[in-house]
Amino acid sequence: MGSRLDDPSNESEDLPTGDDQFTQVFNSLIKSLTARPDDKEDYRYIDESSRERVLEEIYSDPRAAEDAFYLFNIAKLRATVRLFLENFLPDDPHRKVAYAVKANPHREVLKVLIEEGVDCMDCASVGEIRRIVCLDFDRNSILYNHPIKKRRDIYDAYHEFGVRHFTVQTKTEVSKILSAAMDLDQTPSMEIAVRMRTDNPEATINLSQKFGAYPEEVYKILNLVKELGLSPGISVHTGSQNPSQKSYIEAIRTMSKVAGSVGGVISFNVGGGIPVNYFYYDNFDTAEYLKTISDAISVEKSKNPAAFAHEHRVIIEVGRALVASSMDLVVPIVSVSSLDDAQVLHLSDGIFGSFFDYSVHGWRYNFRALNADHNIADGVHLSSYTLRGPTKTLADRLNDPESPFRLPPGLTVGDRLIVENAGAYMYSVGSRAMKRPSIVGYNDLLF
Ligand SMILES: Cc1ncc(COP(=O)(O)O)c(C=O)c1O
Repeated sequence: MGSRLDDPSNESEDLPTGDDQFTQVFNSLIKSLTARPDDKEDYRYIDESSRERVLEEIYSDPRAAEDAFYLFNIAKLRATVRLFLENFLPDDPHRKVAYAVKANPHREVLKVLIEEGVDCMDCASVGEIRRIVCLDFDRNSILYNHPIKKRRDIYDAYHEFGVRHFTVQTKTEVSKILSAAMDLDQTPSMEIAVRMRTDNPEATINLSQKFGAYPEEVYKILNLVKELGLSPGISVHTGSQNPSQKSYIEAIRTMSKVAGSVGGVISFNVGGGIPVNYFYYDNFDTAEYLKTISDAISVEKSKNPAAFAHEHRVIIEVGRALVASSMDLVVPIVSVSSLDDAQVLHLSDGIFGSFFDYSVHGWRYNFRALNADHNIADGVHLSSYTLRGPTKTLADRLNDPESPFRLPPGLTVGDRLIVENAGAYMYSVGSRAMKRPSIVGYNDLLF
């Protein structure tokens, strides 16, 4: 893929080609819509092979001192993709590793994932679909898996971007898709997967509080999909940052039962959720999760072959565990103050930027300090700190004083904090009102 994709100025070459006037107008429209200056200007590559050396290079320019940025270890992302490809149903020709684009939609991240052979892209919005199409990704491998969609978005996905795989959780969504995608008076050819609800209170983010139909309803919707002459699929998500391997096994068993009862499905999607080692006490082994999930699927395939249609795809659809470990976020301290004897560090990034999940999920970030030679400054003697983001609202805080962060004593203006495993969801959630931290790519093979 290499050189053409490396040069963002070649974006027009990445677009679909065709001679008719409609295609030309369409291409120029897409090009203007996708010319996102943030993506082009906020990336730089430094040809160094260690985090310390990259930081040295960045801080040789004093203008960099106050801005937060992500350090993107490209080699680490490549290795993680390979881990998934080697461990998820490695001998099954029907298996597909999908990436949930919302976890980190940065163009450089997507390019690496595509180069390493990720099979499918799970998009939750037309904006994500547009980004993927512009990277020349196979349209048949784009999965529009947000179960609730506006008619206009379905129309654009189907007619303009050629997407043929959609997910629903109600019969109403099926009719919306059918009417928005109708080609004159022909039934469109497409896959409609039904998202099954699966409660899992162990997951940090229990997505079944928002999405999914109960199995009995999934059965009815799948029958409707079949009656309409469309290809049926089934999907599930056991919750994000999900420590419970058992929850996957149970979900796969129920999916297989429902899929078998409607005579088989064309897509069998077990979702994402594999947990990341954010804290020193976390000890999740991605390969072990992939083996558990693969084994559970293989058992169903031999016990209940009727659940899988002839040309089916078995999909794992991962965001967090694919990209989190490839990035660290470096956050400078802009000011220090005190409040009721507590030391307050004012940071250059906050909940309206990378740390949004603190406000919605109470996510506790693992902040550590960097010392003068750019290494982690762990120590036995630690002090208590309260951390605040850069905006003027009180909501922009990363903890309450009664649950302080423990960091080395004497931190001051210009010192830097680092959050490791910051590649998932942190870059994607920032408010448009704040400048996103930029991304600095490098390649460290020793991790
Ligand atoms: C449909 C769907 N697939 C995949 C994912 C990715 O999940 P995770 O990042 O936990 O792997 C999500 C996350 O919300 C999702 O909603």
